[in-house]
Formats: sequence, structure tokens, C-alpha cells
Amino acid sequence: MAARGTSPAILTVESLTKQFGGLVAVDGLSFSVQPGEIRGLIGPNGAGKTTTFNVVSGFYTPSAGQVIYDGKSISGLKMSAVAARGLVRTFQHSTLFQEFDLLDNVLIGCHLKHTPSLMASILGTDGAERRATRDAAMETLEFFDLADRRHSLAGELPHGLQRALGMAVALASEPKVLLLDEPFTGMNPDETQHMMELMLKIRGRGTTLLLVEHDMQAVMGLCDYITVLNFGRLLVEGTPDEIRSNPQVIEAYLGTPHHAA
Ligand SMILES: Nc1ncnc2c1ncn2[C@@H]1O[C@H](COP(=O)(O)OP(=O)(O)O)[C@@H](O)[C@H]1O
Ligand SMILES: [Mg+2]
Repeated sequence: MAARGTSPAILTVESLTKQFGGLVAVDGLSFSVQPGEIRGLIGPNGAGKTTTFNVVSGFYTPSAGQVIYDGKSISGLKMSAVAARGLVRTFQHSTLFQEFDLLDNVLIGCHLKHTPSLMASILGTDGAERRATRDAAMETLEFFDLADRRHSLAGELPHGLQRALGMAVALASEPKVLLLDEPFTGMNPDETQHMMELMLKIRGRGTTLLLVEHDMQAVMGLCDYITVLNFGRLLVEGTPDEIRSNPQVIEAYLGTPHHAA
């Protein structure tokens, strides 16, 4: 990627701390993400990655520190308010409406962005808006190669495609920054490959991606830059090549008995 740090950060986490009772899950963490990059957030199990996502996306309020998004503090805003500003997260587990078809699922995602007013829908003057929303939903399904299956139920899709649909729903709201928590979990190699291609395509549209992932091959292959957490703190940051050979990173992972995430 181009020289780092030349444009203003799209997302800055500043001395962020999140405590649960006496447990400090995130401890004075600071890092910045450049617009248009794919940033990896890695570290051993329990390092505080998911908690960081939960605070950044407004799911939790920080105990201390702040989150600056697009030049403004979003600390303490609710998740819906954060999402409406263009910072959207997907969950580790599917949040699809299994009994709805694909198009309806994506329409729900679009709704975040294009909310027709109640009055307009009562008066029936929202037809144009509704058509525009539907067109946007179809476009998103086409982008993910899911348009042919628009009338299938979400619950009937194979696992890998459910993940792709989850991303389609998130992307339908046209986020500037997309946070993905372990998007490759449970995927076979073909599904992983497909998902990696989708992420590159999403970045190609100008969306910034922040990715928590334990599949190191995927992380190293996809990310422009990687932030490593350990015990809730920043351990080190660098390019995939720098991270791969960093002794502190190797030690942090080897020090964890079970599969590092
Ligand atoms: N809601 C919660 N309540 C209490 N402790 C939590 C909660 N969420 C996470 N933790 C703890 O915070 C630490 C960091 O967890 P987490 O952010 O899930 O790590 P990671 O995603 O890196 O594996 C762990 O010790 C975990 O048990
Ligand atoms: Mg996690």
C-alpha cells in the first residue's frame, strides 16, 4: 500500500480501557487505521480483540479513553448511532434472519441507510424510495454473486454463503469501515478463498476493513498492516512480513497453550 500515515486516520483508538469488574480486558490501547486499508487485529485468546471491537462499534462503552471515527469522538454512542455514521460490525456468529429470503435479509441491511419515514409509507409516497432501496439490495446481492438465490431462505444456504450473506447485509448499509470478527471461522479452504476475494473486492470499493482473525494465512495474505494485542495491550504493529518474524509475537503465541486467535 501507499506510504502509511499520510492521510488522516479514519479510525483512532486512544488510550482505550475496558474493565469487567476487576478484570481489565483492554488496557490503555491506542492505534490508528488509515482509510482504505485492510487492518488485522490479532493476538492470543483472551487478548482483548473482541472487546476492542465491542467498544469501537458502540456495543460497550469504554471504561476510559476514546474512539475517534472520521474526525469525531464516538465514545459512548449506541451501536445503532455508530452504524448510522458508517462504522458497522459483523458478529462472530451469524445474525441472519434464517426464515427470511436473501433479498429480505439484505433489505433489512439497507434499511439502516435508507429509512423511509413512517408518514411517507402511510401516505404511499415512498414508492420511489422503496424501489431505490430494492435496487440497492439487488446490486449488493449481485456484488456477492448471490442474486440468483435471492428467493432462497437464508437458513438454507451453505455455511460459507451464509457468511457472505452476513457481509452483504452489513455492506448494504454502505459502511465506510467494516469490522469483521473471525469471518473465516468454520470455513473450508474454498470458502476461505472466496471470502478473501470478497474482502479485496469490498476494499476495492473504498471500504476500510478491520479484521479479527485467527487464520494466520488469511491474515498475512490479506492485511496491509497488523496490530498485535497481548493482555489487552498493544504488543507490536507492522506489515505481515514484520509481524511474521517478530520474536515478541512468536513468544506471545507460543506462550498460549491452546489455538491462538
Ligand atoms: N462481557 C464480559 N464480561 C466479563 N469478562 C469478559 C467479557 N468479555 C470478555 N471478557 C474477558 O475479557 C478478556 C478479553 O476477552 P476477548 O476480548 O473476548 O478476547 P479475544 O477476543 O482476544 O479472545 C478475557 O479475559 C475475557 O474472559
Ligand atoms: Mg474474540
